Amino acid sequence: MKLLITGGAGFIGSNFVLYMAKNYPDYQLINVDALTYAGNLENLRSVEQHPNYRFVKADIADRAAMEPLLADGVDIVVNFAAESHVDRSILEPEIFVRTNIMGTQTLLDLAKKYNISKFVQVSTDEVYGTLGDTGLFTEETPLAANSPYSASKAGADLLVRAYHETFGLNVNITRCSNNYGPYQFPEKLIPLMIQNALNDKPLPVYGDGLNVRDWLYVEDHCSAIDLVLHKGRSGEVYNVGGRNERNNLQVVRTILAELGKPESLITYVTDRLGHDRRYAIDADKIRNELGWQPKYDYENGIKETVRWYLEHSEWMEQILSGAYQDYFKTQYGDR
Ligand code: NAD
Ligand code: DAU
Repeated sequence: MKLLITGGAGFIGSNFVLYMAKNYPDYQLINVDALTYAGNLENLRSVEQHPNYRFVKADIADRAAMEPLLADGVDIVVNFAAESHVDRSILEPEIFVRTNIMGTQTLLDLAKKYNISKFVQVSTDEVYGTLGDTGLFTEETPLAANSPYSASKAGADLLVRAYHETFGLNVNITRCSNNYGPYQFPEKLIPLMIQNALNDKPLPVYGDGLNVRDWLYVEDHCSAIDLVLHKGRSGEVYNVGGRNERNNLQVVRTILAELGKPESLITYVTDRLGHDRRYAIDADKIRNELGWQPKYDYENGIKETVRWYLEHSEWMEQILSGAYQDYFKTQYGDR
């Protein structure tokens, strides 16, 4: 089996490459990543020497670069590559359209041309928009994206669907809730708060801090994609989530308690524009149809994650480069 994994140097993609190399050592894994600010080959040091692993630096929207890779007999494409951060999409939407929509279309077109057996699109629960105080997103919830990021992911999902309906391409779409765990870029809530707390810097909580996210440990997302790529029914969407709804203040307080830091570090800042209030996932379909079961409960997962960042301070130092500092200043000012 030969897998073309795009975005495999990012947070979830690199966890997925490590997961597949460990669980399917006979599979050939081609990791294609453009190495944007979010791509980090350090995440993949332990598989670099793996005989069935290969890295290729390329942009998924660059057809000329992608064509030889797909022409070379790939079985399955797993598309993680994306611009993934909502706040960046508010500052600079265009690149989200280029990578997330145009990039996905380029891959779909090549998958069709070279008769790829399956195309797995790694999507997000954010395509469904926002929930009120009650209810869950199911696969039948209408798409109602609210940010340029989620709109670009919803656009990609519709293209994936269209290639199935129009050309009969064997596709699956996964829509997962918020992931946390090792190797997450420190622009996202959990690693950002860990990093700031460790340095006794203010923890910037948007709005009233009561927005709810449904947290899933990244390895549980990887095991869901593993099942979908092997057993998912053609054309189907699968939601993925562990029913771990927490508001942002709860998450931040847990991190502070784990690190033994004071709650006085919490600083309320201007709310994110168009900030979705609540996400919560109904994952009954993947549980019942494919037998998926998350392994990590949130309380242990978050503790392990805090420990991981404490034990990998060099990984964090390497990331906190000039480019990161520039972004941080644009987003939060001189705090
Ligand atoms: P990330 O930002 O950490 O990683 C994205 C990776 O894609 C990086 O390695 C980057 O270099 C690469 N990339 C960006 N543009 C590219 C291009 N044009 N060509 C090739 N590579 C490119 O993102 P992540 O959090 O790991 O998310 C991965 C995927 O999972 C995304 O599609 C995202 O929408 C989806 N997702 C994320 C979450 C989450 O909580 N992080 C939850 C559900 C779904
Ligand atoms: O739901 C899945 C999505 O989860 C993925 O599709 C996205 O790629 C991923 O980035 C994530 O999106 P969120 O916007 O939910 O994640 P983020 O970590 O940016 O923010 C989580 C919550 O924390 C959100 O309500 C905004 C809030 N927040 C975030 C940051 C960075 C703050 O209060 N302060 C912050 O500094």
